[in-house]
Amino acid sequence: MSLVKGIILAGGYGSRLYPLTIGTSKQLLPVYDKPMIYYPLSTLMVAGIRDILIISTPEDLPKFKKLFGDGSKIGLNISYKKQIKPSGIAESFIIGKDFIGDSDVCLILGDNIFYGDNISETLNKGIFNLKNGYSTIFGVKVDNPNEFGVVEFDSKNNIKKIIEKPRSYISNIIVSGLYFYKNNVINIANNLTPSNRNELEITEINNYYLSIKKLMLVEFGDTVSWIDTGTYASMLKASNFFQDLELKTNKKYACVEEIAFLLSYINENDFKKIGTSMKNSSYGQYLLKQLKN
Ligand code: G1P
Repeated sequence: MSLVKGIILAGGYGSRLYPLTIGTSKQLLPVYDKPMIYYPLSTLMVAGIRDILIISTPEDLPKFKKLFGDGSKIGLNISYKKQIKPSGIAESFIIGKDFIGDSDVCLILGDNIFYGDNISETLNKGIFNLKNGYSTIFGVKVDNPNEFGVVEFDSKNNIKKIIEKPRSYISNIIVSGLYFYKNNVINIANNLTPSNRNELEITEINNYYLSIKKLMLVEFGDTVSWIDTGTYASMLKASNFFQDLELKTNKKYACVEEIAFLLSYINENDFKKIGTSMKNSSYGQYLLKQLKN
Protein backbone atom coordinates (compact mmCIF):
# COMPACT_ATOMS: atom_id res chain seq x y z
CA MET A 1 0.00 0.00 0.00
CA SER A 2 1.27 3.44 -0.82
CA LEU A 3 2.12 5.98 1.84
CA VAL A 4 -0.07 8.62 0.23
CA LYS A 5 -3.57 7.80 -0.94
CA GLY A 6 -5.40 9.65 -3.68
CA ILE A 7 -8.93 11.00 -3.91
CA ILE A 8 -10.52 12.25 -7.12
CA LEU A 9 -13.60 14.34 -6.46
CA ALA A 10 -15.85 14.07 -9.48
CA GLY A 11 -19.13 15.26 -8.01
CA GLY A 12 -21.28 18.30 -8.56
CA TYR A 13 -24.03 19.10 -11.04
CA GLY A 14 -21.71 20.77 -13.54
CA SER A 15 -24.46 23.34 -14.02
CA ARG A 16 -22.07 25.88 -15.51
CA LEU A 17 -21.82 23.58 -18.53
CA TYR A 18 -25.53 22.80 -19.03
CA PRO A 19 -26.89 21.27 -21.25
CA LEU A 20 -23.66 19.27 -21.73
CA THR A 21 -23.81 17.93 -18.20
CA ILE A 22 -27.52 17.27 -17.75
CA GLY A 23 -27.15 13.68 -18.93
CA THR A 24 -23.71 12.92 -17.61
CA SER A 25 -20.93 13.95 -15.28
CA LYS A 26 -18.64 16.81 -16.31
CA GLN A 27 -15.65 14.61 -15.50
CA LEU A 28 -16.76 12.07 -18.12
CA LEU A 29 -16.96 14.60 -20.94
CA PRO A 30 -14.30 14.20 -23.62
CA VAL A 31 -11.11 16.19 -23.63
CA TYR A 32 -9.77 15.30 -27.08
CA ASP A 33 -9.66 11.49 -27.08
CA LYS A 34 -10.43 10.47 -23.51
CA PRO A 35 -12.79 11.20 -20.61
CA MET A 36 -11.73 14.24 -18.59
CA ILE A 37 -11.07 12.16 -15.45
CA TYR A 38 -8.16 10.39 -17.21
CA TYR A 39 -6.13 13.59 -16.80
CA PRO A 40 -6.34 13.92 -12.99
CA LEU A 41 -6.01 10.14 -12.69
CA SER A 42 -2.77 10.29 -14.67
CA THR A 43 -1.53 13.07 -12.37
CA LEU A 44 -2.02 10.81 -9.34
CA MET A 45 -0.29 7.94 -11.16
CA VAL A 46 2.70 10.10 -12.02
CA ALA A 47 2.90 11.02 -8.31
CA GLY A 48 3.22 7.27 -7.62
CA ILE A 49 -0.20 7.03 -5.97
CA ARG A 50 -1.96 3.70 -6.58
CA ASP A 51 -4.73 3.58 -3.96
CA ILE A 52 -7.42 5.83 -5.31
CA LEU A 53 -10.95 6.73 -4.22
CA ILE A 54 -13.32 8.23 -6.76
CA ILE A 55 -16.14 10.28 -5.22
CA SER A 56 -19.12 11.16 -7.38
CA THR A 57 -22.89 11.55 -7.38
CA PRO A 58 -25.12 8.48 -6.86
CA GLU A 59 -26.22 8.73 -10.53
CA ASP A 60 -22.73 9.03 -12.01
CA LEU A 61 -20.78 6.64 -9.79
CA PRO A 62 -21.84 3.52 -11.77
CA LYS A 63 -20.46 5.13 -14.94
CA PHE A 64 -17.04 5.62 -13.35
CA LYS A 65 -17.17 2.01 -12.12
CA LYS A 66 -17.90 0.87 -15.66
CA LEU A 67 -14.91 2.86 -16.91
CA PHE A 68 -12.29 1.74 -14.39
CA GLY A 69 -13.69 -1.26 -12.46
CA ASP A 70 -11.48 -1.98 -9.45
CA GLY A 71 -8.53 -0.40 -11.27
CA SER A 72 -6.58 -3.66 -11.45
CA LYS A 73 -6.53 -3.58 -15.28
CA ILE A 74 -4.16 -0.61 -15.01
CA GLY A 75 -2.41 -1.76 -11.85
CA LEU A 76 -4.36 0.47 -9.48
CA ASN A 77 -6.62 -0.12 -6.54
CA ILE A 78 -9.69 2.04 -7.20
CA SER A 79 -12.65 2.29 -4.85
CA TYR A 80 -15.78 4.42 -5.00
CA LYS A 81 -17.97 6.49 -2.67
CA LYS A 82 -21.04 8.61 -3.16
CA GLN A 83 -21.40 12.28 -2.38
CA ILE A 84 -25.15 12.54 -1.98
CA LYS A 85 -25.26 16.27 -2.71
CA PRO A 86 -22.56 18.84 -3.54
CA SER A 87 -21.77 19.84 0.05
CA GLY A 88 -18.27 21.08 -0.69
CA ILE A 89 -14.82 19.85 -1.64
CA ALA A 90 -13.75 19.45 2.00
CA GLU A 91 -16.45 16.81 2.50
CA SER A 92 -14.18 14.46 0.53
CA PHE A 93 -12.20 13.75 3.69
CA ILE A 94 -15.31 12.91 5.69
CA ILE A 95 -16.62 10.65 2.91
CA GLY A 96 -13.13 9.19 2.43
CA LYS A 97 -12.26 8.75 6.13
CA ASP A 98 -12.15 4.93 6.12
CA PHE A 99 -10.36 4.86 2.79
CA ILE A 100 -7.67 7.30 4.02
CA GLY A 101 -7.15 5.38 7.27
CA ASP A 102 -3.74 6.35 8.69
CA SER A 103 -2.30 7.63 5.42
CA ASP A 104 -1.68 11.12 4.15
CA VAL A 105 -3.81 12.08 1.19
CA CYS A 106 -3.63 13.82 -2.16
CA LEU A 107 -6.92 15.28 -3.37
CA ILE A 108 -7.37 16.24 -6.99
CA LEU A 109 -10.53 17.71 -8.48
CA GLY A 110 -11.81 15.60 -11.36
CA ASP A 111 -11.92 18.57 -13.71
CA ASN A 112 -8.39 19.81 -13.07
CA ILE A 113 -5.90 19.15 -15.86
CA PHE A 114 -2.20 19.66 -15.30
CA TYR A 115 0.33 19.49 -18.07
CA GLY A 116 4.08 19.75 -18.11
CA ASP A 117 7.32 17.88 -18.69
CA ASN A 118 8.39 18.44 -15.10
CA ILE A 119 5.11 17.50 -13.53
CA SER A 120 6.51 14.60 -11.50
CA GLU A 121 9.20 16.85 -10.02
CA THR A 122 6.52 19.30 -8.93
CA LEU A 123 4.36 16.53 -7.45
CA ASN A 124 7.37 15.17 -5.59
CA LYS A 125 7.55 18.47 -3.73
CA GLY A 126 4.10 17.72 -2.32
CA ILE A 127 5.19 14.26 -1.21
CA PHE A 128 8.45 15.62 0.22
CA ASN A 129 6.58 18.27 2.23
CA LEU A 130 4.25 15.61 3.68
CA LYS A 131 7.29 13.70 4.93
CA ASN A 132 8.32 16.89 6.76
CA GLY A 133 4.89 17.42 8.27
CA TYR A 134 3.59 20.02 5.81
CA SER A 135 0.55 20.10 3.58
CA THR A 136 0.87 21.63 0.10
CA ILE A 137 -1.24 23.66 -2.28
CA PHE A 138 -0.26 24.59 -5.82
CA GLY A 139 -0.54 28.16 -7.09
CA VAL A 140 -1.17 29.22 -10.68
CA LYS A 141 -1.24 32.65 -12.27
CA VAL A 142 -4.52 33.32 -14.10
CA ASP A 143 -6.31 36.23 -15.76
CA ASN A 144 -9.63 35.61 -13.97
CA PRO A 145 -8.55 34.99 -10.35
CA ASN A 146 -11.83 36.00 -8.73
CA GLU A 147 -13.50 32.80 -9.93
CA PHE A 148 -11.24 30.68 -7.70
CA GLY A 149 -9.55 30.50 -4.32
CA VAL A 150 -7.08 33.41 -4.41
CA VAL A 151 -3.80 33.71 -2.51
CA GLU A 152 -3.28 36.98 -0.63
CA PHE A 153 0.37 37.82 0.06
CA ASP A 154 1.84 40.14 2.70
CA SER A 155 4.51 42.73 1.96
CA LYS A 156 7.23 40.07 2.39
CA ASN A 157 5.52 37.85 -0.16
CA ASN A 158 4.44 35.31 2.45
CA ILE A 159 0.93 33.91 2.16
CA LYS A 160 -1.40 35.88 4.36
CA LYS A 161 -4.67 34.19 3.60
CA ILE A 162 -6.61 32.36 0.95
CA ILE A 163 -9.86 33.94 -0.07
CA GLU A 164 -12.54 31.96 -1.88
CA LYS A 165 -13.94 33.79 -4.91
CA PRO A 166 -13.26 37.33 -3.65
CA ARG A 167 -15.33 40.21 -5.03
CA SER A 168 -12.42 42.56 -5.48
CA TYR A 169 -8.91 41.99 -6.82
CA ILE A 170 -6.51 40.37 -4.32
CA SER A 171 -3.78 38.82 -6.50
CA ASN A 172 -3.59 36.84 -9.72
CA ILE A 173 -2.33 33.66 -8.01
CA ILE A 174 -5.05 31.11 -7.45
CA VAL A 175 -5.08 27.76 -5.67
CA SER A 176 -5.48 24.93 -8.17
CA GLY A 177 -7.50 21.81 -7.44
CA LEU A 178 -4.58 19.66 -6.30
CA TYR A 179 -3.80 19.34 -2.62
CA PHE A 180 -1.49 17.18 -0.51
CA TYR A 181 -2.67 16.91 3.10
CA LYS A 182 -1.44 15.32 6.29
CA ASN A 183 -3.71 12.69 7.80
CA ASN A 184 -5.17 15.16 10.32
CA VAL A 185 -7.14 16.71 7.44
CA ILE A 186 -9.88 14.25 8.42
CA ASN A 187 -10.25 15.91 11.84
CA ILE A 188 -9.99 19.37 10.38
CA ALA A 189 -12.76 18.60 7.88
CA ASN A 190 -14.91 17.11 10.64
CA ASN A 191 -14.71 20.37 12.59
CA LEU A 192 -15.73 22.64 9.70
CA THR A 193 -19.09 24.35 9.58
CA PRO A 194 -20.82 25.03 6.25
CA SER A 195 -20.10 28.39 4.62
CA ASN A 196 -22.64 30.95 3.39
CA ARG A 197 -23.10 28.93 0.21
CA ASN A 198 -23.71 25.89 2.47
CA GLU A 199 -20.50 24.07 1.57
CA LEU A 200 -17.57 22.69 3.54
CA GLU A 201 -14.88 24.86 1.99
CA ILE A 202 -11.46 23.55 1.00
CA THR A 203 -10.22 27.11 1.46
CA GLU A 204 -11.00 26.88 5.18
CA ILE A 205 -8.84 23.78 5.44
CA ASN A 206 -6.00 25.59 3.69
CA ASN A 207 -6.39 28.63 5.96
CA TYR A 208 -6.32 26.34 9.00
CA TYR A 209 -2.99 24.79 7.91
CA LEU A 210 -1.75 28.30 7.23
CA SER A 211 -2.70 29.43 10.76
CA ILE A 212 -0.68 26.59 12.32
CA LYS A 213 2.20 27.28 9.88
CA LYS A 214 1.94 23.89 8.24
CA LEU A 215 1.06 24.94 4.70
CA MET A 216 3.43 25.18 1.74
CA LEU A 217 2.58 26.91 -1.50
CA VAL A 218 4.28 25.55 -4.61
CA GLU A 219 3.91 27.80 -7.63
CA PHE A 220 3.84 26.09 -11.00
CA GLY A 221 5.74 28.82 -12.78
CA ASP A 222 6.55 28.03 -16.41
CA THR A 223 7.16 24.31 -16.04
CA VAL A 224 3.64 23.09 -15.44
CA SER A 225 0.42 24.47 -16.83
CA TRP A 226 -3.02 24.22 -15.40
CA ILE A 227 -5.63 23.84 -18.06
CA ASP A 228 -9.02 25.27 -17.32
CA THR A 229 -12.15 23.26 -18.17
CA GLY A 230 -14.69 25.68 -16.74
CA THR A 231 -16.34 26.86 -19.97
CA TYR A 232 -17.29 25.49 -23.40
CA ALA A 233 -14.48 27.52 -24.91
CA SER A 234 -11.82 26.34 -22.47
CA MET A 235 -12.90 22.71 -22.93
CA LEU A 236 -12.52 23.05 -26.68
CA LYS A 237 -9.18 24.76 -26.23
CA ALA A 238 -8.01 21.90 -24.00
CA SER A 239 -9.06 19.33 -26.63
CA ASN A 240 -7.25 21.24 -29.36
CA PHE A 241 -4.17 21.56 -27.18
CA PHE A 242 -3.91 17.80 -26.61
CA GLN A 243 -4.61 17.00 -30.25
CA ASP A 244 -1.86 19.39 -31.38
CA LEU A 245 0.49 17.93 -28.80
CA GLU A 246 -0.10 14.43 -30.14
CA LEU A 247 0.42 15.55 -33.73
CA LYS A 248 3.70 17.18 -32.74
CA THR A 249 5.10 14.45 -30.49
CA ASN A 250 3.34 11.27 -31.67
CA LYS A 251 2.60 10.69 -28.00
CA LYS A 252 -0.64 10.72 -26.11
CA TYR A 253 -0.82 12.66 -22.86
CA ALA A 254 -2.63 11.27 -19.78
CA CYS A 255 -2.89 7.86 -21.43
CA VAL A 256 -3.37 5.96 -18.17
CA GLU A 257 -3.00 2.54 -19.80
CA GLU A 258 0.39 3.46 -21.25
CA ILE A 259 1.49 5.07 -17.98
CA ALA A 260 0.58 1.84 -16.14
CA PHE A 261 2.72 -0.09 -18.63
CA LEU A 262 5.66 2.33 -18.43
CA LEU A 263 5.55 2.22 -14.62
CA SER A 264 5.52 -1.61 -14.83
CA TYR A 265 2.20 -1.77 -13.02
CA ILE A 266 1.05 -4.08 -15.81
CA ASN A 267 2.98 -6.41 -18.10
CA GLU A 268 3.07 -6.63 -21.89
CA ASN A 269 0.28 -9.16 -21.96
CA ASP A 270 -2.09 -7.03 -19.89
CA PHE A 271 -1.25 -4.00 -21.99
CA LYS A 272 -1.88 -5.89 -25.22
CA LYS A 273 -5.24 -7.06 -23.90
CA ILE A 274 -6.35 -3.48 -23.24
CA GLY A 275 -5.16 -2.35 -26.67
CA THR A 276 -6.95 -5.23 -28.35
CA SER A 277 -10.17 -4.52 -26.48
CA MET A 278 -10.15 -1.01 -28.02
CA LYS A 279 -8.65 -1.89 -31.40
CA ASN A 280 -11.53 -0.34 -33.32
CA SER A 281 -10.50 3.10 -32.10
CA SER A 282 -7.32 4.94 -32.96
CA TYR A 283 -6.74 5.11 -29.18
CA GLY A 284 -6.58 1.30 -29.01
CA GLN A 285 -4.39 1.22 -32.11
CA TYR A 286 -2.05 3.71 -30.45
CA LEU A 287 -1.70 1.39 -27.45
CA LEU A 288 -0.90 -1.58 -29.68
CA LYS A 289 1.65 0.51 -31.57
CA GLN A 290 3.44 1.45 -28.33
CA LEU A 291 3.89 -2.24 -27.63
CA LYS A 292 5.65 -2.74 -30.95
CA ASN A 293 7.93 0.25 -30.29
C1 G1P B 1 -12.77 25.07 -6.37
C2 G1P B 1 -12.19 25.67 -5.09
C3 G1P B 1 -11.24 26.83 -5.43
C4 G1P B 1 -10.18 26.37 -6.42
C5 G1P B 1 -10.83 25.70 -7.64
C6 G1P B 1 -9.78 25.07 -8.56
O1 G1P B 1 -13.61 25.99 -6.98
O2 G1P B 1 -13.24 26.08 -4.24
O3 G1P B 1 -10.63 27.29 -4.26
O4 G1P B 1 -9.40 27.47 -6.80
O5 G1P B 1 -11.73 24.67 -7.25
O6 G1P B 1 -10.36 24.44 -9.67
P1 G1P B 1 -14.96 25.52 -7.75
O7 G1P B 1 -14.55 24.59 -8.84
O8 G1P B 1 -15.79 24.82 -6.73
O9 G1P B 1 -15.57 26.78 -8.25
